[in-house]
Amino acid sequence: MLAVVTVLLTGATGFLGSRVAHTLLTTRNERVIALGRGTPALLRIRVVNALRVHGEEVTHPGNLSRLRCVSGDVAQPWLGLSPALHARIAREVDAVWHCAGDIALTGERDRLFRVNAQGTAHVLAFMEMTAAHCRLVHLSTMAVAGARTEGCIMEDDLTDAHGFETHYDASKFEAERLVRHWAERQGRPAVVLRPSIVASDRTHPDEAAGHPLSVLGSMIEAVALGGAPGIPAQRGEGTGLRLRLAASPTATLNIVPDSYATQAMVRIGYDTAPDVGDVRTFHVVHAHNTPVQALFDAMEAHYPGLRIDCFDGEVHDASLAEQYIASHLAGFLSYCRHRRTYDRSRALAATPELAGPAPVDAGFLRRALGFTGQAVGSR
Ligand SMILES: NC(=O)c1ccc[n+]([C@@H]2O[C@H](COP(=O)([O-])OP(=O)(O)OC[C@H]3O[C@@H](n4cnc5c(N)ncnc54)[C@H](OP(=O)(O)O)[C@@H]3O)[C@@H](O)[C@H]2O)c1
Repeated sequence: MLAVVTVLLTGATGFLGSRVAHTLLTTRNERVIALGRGTPALLRIRVVNALRVHGEEVTHPGNLSRLRCVSGDVAQPWLGLSPALHARIAREVDAVWHCAGDIALTGERDRLFRVNAQGTAHVLAFMEMTAAHCRLVHLSTMAVAGARTEGCIMEDDLTDAHGFETHYDASKFEAERLVRHWAERQGRPAVVLRPSIVASDRTHPDEAAGHPLSVLGSMIEAVALGGAPGIPAQRGEGTGLRLRLAASPTATLNIVPDSYATQAMVRIGYDTAPDVGDVRTFHVVHAHNTPVQALFDAMEAHYPGLRIDCFDGEVHDASLAEQYIASHLAGFLSYCRHRRTYDRSRALAATPELAGPAPVDAGFLRRALGFTGQAVGSR
C-alpha cells in the first residue's frame, strides 16, 4: 500500500466528493486539502456541514484538524490559486482526487466544458508541478460511453464513435481523453473511476447535495402534487395524471448504492498502483441493471392515479406536466433508452474483500426517490 499522506481533493461539498473526503478523514488518517469556491472560512463551514451528513465521527478530535480548506476554482487557470500557493500545495501533496464537476445533464455546452474538461486540464497542469509519486484519481462517469445503447462497455473502452446525447456526456468524455493523453505524454500513472448512477436510500438534510434519483423524485412530486410553475395542483393525489415519457419500456439503468460506491472508489483510488504512464479505468457499478419500468412502478405506487407511459418518439401534444418533465429531465430520459451493460472485472479484482452492493429493489428505489411516507392519498 502506498503511504499517501496529503491529498488535494476537489468537490468536497458535493454528493460524491463529501463521501470520499469523509472516508479519507475517518478511516485513512489522511490530511485533506479541500479546494473549493468561496472564502476559506465559508468553504470550511460548507465542507464540514457536508461531511457531518455522513457521520459525526468526522468531528472527533484529530479528524477535522487534518482538514484544510483553500479557496479555488477548477475552471480558472492555476485552479484559481496564486502561483505561489499553487506551487506550495503541489510540493506538499501525495495524491489528487478530482471529484469536482458540473453534473447539469441539461446544462449549456460552454459551462459544462469549462468546468468538466477545462477544469480537468487545470488539474492536470497542477499534477505536472507535483512529485513523481503523486497519484491522480479522476472521477469520471459511465456517461462517457455516450449514445451507445446496446452491448457491454468494457473498462478500457473510450470512444466517441457513437456520439453524445448530452453536453454533460461529451464534456466528461473530453475530460477522460485529456487524462489519458496527459498520462501518456508525461509518463505518469492515473486512476479513472467510472461510477454509474450513484443513489442513496438514506434521508439527508434538505441542504445536503442531492443525487440523480432524489432529483427525479422531486420533479415527479412537483408534477404529481402541483407546485411547479404553470402546473396546476392535481387534486391532492395526482388523480388521473398521465405522463408520456420518451423512454423505452425495455430500457435498463445501472444504479449503484452510495455506500458501496464510496468504499469501492476509496479502496481502488488508494490501493491500486498503476504503472508509469498507465491509466487504469474502473467501473464502479452494480452487478445488475435496474429496469426503468421499476422506477416508474415506484412512482405510480407512491402517487395512486399517476400513470406513466413509455412513449417511443416525440410527444407532439405534450401537456404542461409533460413539457416540464421533458425540459428538466431531457438528459436523464436519454439514459432511459439504454440497454447497455458494464464490465467490472478490473474493479472486482481490485476490491476482492469488499461485499457487493445492496440490491436495488422496490424498497431501495422508493427511499432513494424520497418517497418515505405511505403512498400519497392513503395517509
Ligand atoms: N452523482 C452521481 O451519480 C455521479 C455518477 C457518476 C459520476 N459522477 C461524477 O462525480 C463528480 C461529482 O459529482 P457529484 O454528484 O458529487 O456532483 P455535485 O454534488 O453537484 O458536486 C459537485 C462538486 O463540484 C464542485 N464544483 C463545481 N464547479 C466547481 C468549480 N468551478 N470549481 C471548484 N469546484 C467546483 C461543487 O462545488 P460547489 O458546492 O461550490 O458547487 C461540488 O463540490 C462529477 O465529476 C460527476 O461527473 C457523479
